[in-house]
Amino acid sequence: MTRYRVVVVGMGRRGVHHATAFAANPRFELAGIGSRDRQRLDAAAAKLGNVKTSTDASALAAMKPDVFCFCTPPNVRLPLIELGIGSGAKLIAFEKPVAMTSAEGMAIKQALDRAGVKAVVSHQHRYGEHYKKVQELIAGGAIGKVHTVYGTATGWAAHMLSHLVDYTSWFNGYEPAEWVMGQAAGRGKLGDGHTSPDYVAGVVHFRNGVRGTYDCGAGAPDVAEVPYWWRKCRIGAHGTDGYAEVHTGSGWRAVTRDGVQSGPGGMDYDHDMAPYVQQMADWLDDDRKPHPARFERAYHGLEIVSALYRSVAEGGQVALPLTSGLDEIDALKAKVPRRRVLMTLAESGKEYKEEG
Ligand SMILES: NC(=O)c1ccc[n+]([C@@H]2O[C@H](COP(=O)([O-])OP(=O)(O)OC[C@H]3O[C@@H](n4cnc5c(N)ncnc54)[C@H](O)[C@@H]3O)[C@@H](O)[C@H]2O)c1
Repeated sequence: MTRYRVVVVGMGRRGVHHATAFAANPRFELAGIGSRDRQRLDAAAAKLGNVKTSTDASALAAMKPDVFCFCTPPNVRLPLIELGIGSGAKLIAFEKPVAMTSAEGMAIKQALDRAGVKAVVSHQHRYGEHYKKVQELIAGGAIGKVHTVYGTATGWAAHMLSHLVDYTSWFNGYEPAEWVMGQAAGRGKLGDGHTSPDYVAGVVHFRNGVRGTYDCGAGAPDVAEVPYWWRKCRIGAHGTDGYAEVHTGSGWRAVTRDGVQSGPGGMDYDHDMAPYVQQMADWLDDDRKPHPARFERAYHGLEIVSALYRSVAEGGQVALPLTSGLDEIDALKAKVPRRRVLMTLAESGKEYKEEG
């Protein structure tokens, strides 16, 4: 049984989650961890035990890992993809969002395609028991023929939207999207590291005729079932015979031919990371077992998000797949009106403070 050597760059919250999950799995050897911040790095090393540390990501790449993992802020992507490819790694694991712009996303895709390196993107909520239950109900036909998928979140887009798009796409069998149309409001988070409009909403037409609706940020509806603000997400599908949906922070509900059903579940990093890393080993072992959170899927999610932003900037429907890259963040900065966003929840005022 091959044991895959892993290095993890970035020892913020998510880097520590990843390193901990790799260290706990016998299929991996956590060979090195890195952070530019020595204090953070020492604190992580104290928890993770006998592991090489470096404040220089290149030194970790030079260790020739099988898996190059990085968990950096959203504006740090392409240089680390290139570093990972250069390291000779067979698989690169990195955090969502794939990129902040389609221009960078396309450059990442081209680099990975050219190098023939596998890649996965951390949309790991899908391993939650409530997510799996809802997907099973939908795929098993319990709600009949799906005609609509939907995702809402009170958190802003660079944090939440790629999750909404990925899990709704899963509920729709990862059918490709053909066009997108959207609107946005509020400039406060255009100055944030997770750069986003305060609120974005839109519709997506999938090839199989299913309609996706997305509502992300300050104007999104409440999810009263969930008390914790960051996990107020409602993600589900309507079909000819009912509906099934996840509430990210608290359980699931379905109405099917058999009546009303509901159950527990809550987004939990410890629970979700273990199968997420195990399936990296499975894919490295066997090309016929591609990872469910593979780059190809996350990249299509980035195209959908980018198209929503282009629709805001340019108006009208935006056709997919995208054929050229753009800096959608610049386009949003030029277009989103200088008016304070209108908030659905009074509680959101603590996050959406600035006029921008
Ligand atoms: N999948 C999820 O559920 C989930 C949850 C939270 C955050 N995230 C995503 O994870 C990513 C990281 O989030 P976090 O909360 O861990 O961030 P963080 O700010 O806590 O940590 C970021 C780390 O990256 C390092 N870093 C910054 N710039 C760097 C560079 N140029 N080169 C090398 N290292 C650099 C920092 O030193 C730090 O160690 C973000 O993209 C975020 O959206 C995902």
